[in-house]
Amino acid sequence: MDRHINPVKRVRGILKVPGDKSISHRALLLGALAQGRTSIVNLSSGMDVASTLSCLSKLGVRLSSDADGRICYIEGCGGFRETEGVLDAGNSGTTIRLLSGLLAGQTFTSRITGDESLKRRPMERILVPLRKMGADIAAGLGDTVPLTIHGKPLHGIDYRIPMASAQIKSCVLLAGLLAEGRTQVSEPALSRDHTERMLPEFGVDVRRTDLTVELDGPARLNGCKIDVPGDLSSAAFFIVAASILPESEIVIENVGMNPSRTGIVDILKQSGGDIQIDCHRIQNGEPRADLAVRFGDMKGMDISGRWIPQLIDEIPVLAILATQSMGRTVVRNAKELRVKETDRIAAVADNLRAMGVKIDVADDGFVLEGPQELKGACIDSRGDHRIAMAFTIAGLIARGETTIRGSECVDISYPSFYSTIEELIHG
Ligand code: S3P
Repeated sequence: MDRHINPVKRVRGILKVPGDKSISHRALLLGALAQGRTSIVNLSSGMDVASTLSCLSKLGVRLSSDADGRICYIEGCGGFRETEGVLDAGNSGTTIRLLSGLLAGQTFTSRITGDESLKRRPMERILVPLRKMGADIAAGLGDTVPLTIHGKPLHGIDYRIPMASAQIKSCVLLAGLLAEGRTQVSEPALSRDHTERMLPEFGVDVRRTDLTVELDGPARLNGCKIDVPGDLSSAAFFIVAASILPESEIVIENVGMNPSRTGIVDILKQSGGDIQIDCHRIQNGEPRADLAVRFGDMKGMDISGRWIPQLIDEIPVLAILATQSMGRTVVRNAKELRVKETDRIAAVADNLRAMGVKIDVADDGFVLEGPQELKGACIDSRGDHRIAMAFTIAGLIARGETTIRGSECVDISYPSFYSTIEELIHG
């Protein structure tokens, strides 16, 4: 579906964003593994999390929700039931990579597939550690989806992940819950640590030192109540919009502020952004706060090294911010962007060029000088939700009309994105 975006003067208002996608997946998967009832408040409303829900329901997990759909209940009985059908992870890398860790340790065979984008994404990164744990998994050509997972007894391993990836780390930790003995995972830089923070809520003892996490299996999980904070990766689009549109002023309530995710806030503050953090609190081990953002006098940013895992999903919208910032923005060490829902380095560069921006592309990032004026253009979302939303924000400051092709993909993480934009424009 094409969506037409016209320039606006400012954004204003008080808003909430949907529940965090990463935390929602984990709450569902751990709740399914637990004994007894788990209640999840503010589950992500996006299609990715719906994919996890539908896989779990095929695996015999009893799920329900309250009348207004705000609370999701899982009646956990400690595991899964064999299913004849093929599990469908849709567009969701987190669903397939985390769930595979749990399926590897079952007593039955499962098949799991996904959409055209997921079929192009690398699965070798989870197959290597899972096979070391004793898993028997057959993948498509080039270690791609679909996966046929023959459940086997697993044993714990000591595994060093080659790149900072929370999906790999969490896949191994989830398999470790079913495995015999100790599972230890180390990573080169801290990736999002929601799994480690949530496991103790379910009664699992997790030990962490620096960049290593360790647990003992097989573990017993007890159902609990999880309150999911708003998704900072969704809030990022409005944070950038308010930062680049003069006279803007917004408040985003109850946003997740896990330090392994707050790169966008930290880099914005360092680069002249006007962002205030209020009512900081911690619930279920996850920090959260209200963010007040106003127009800022932005400077170019140096985004590389340890910053990358802390803001990996925000780089498309940070590229839009960079076009409006004074000086050079450099993004390096972000090769992982090439294997997201689409090749996000190519998608950002091609679409920015369509808007008249000069940008130099490298294999692992890009460089651009700001400020540069954006011209309204036809944007190819490539079915990637974060590309569609980032370029919608670009459309708000561009000269002339911008058309977002395939804008419906925003439903993957943020179904009400365009109605929230409307409210903020008229706020
Ligand atoms: C996620 C981890 C990140 C992130 C993705 C969600 C997660 O992927 O990009 O959107 O929930 O664990 P990688 O682990 O591949 O970096």
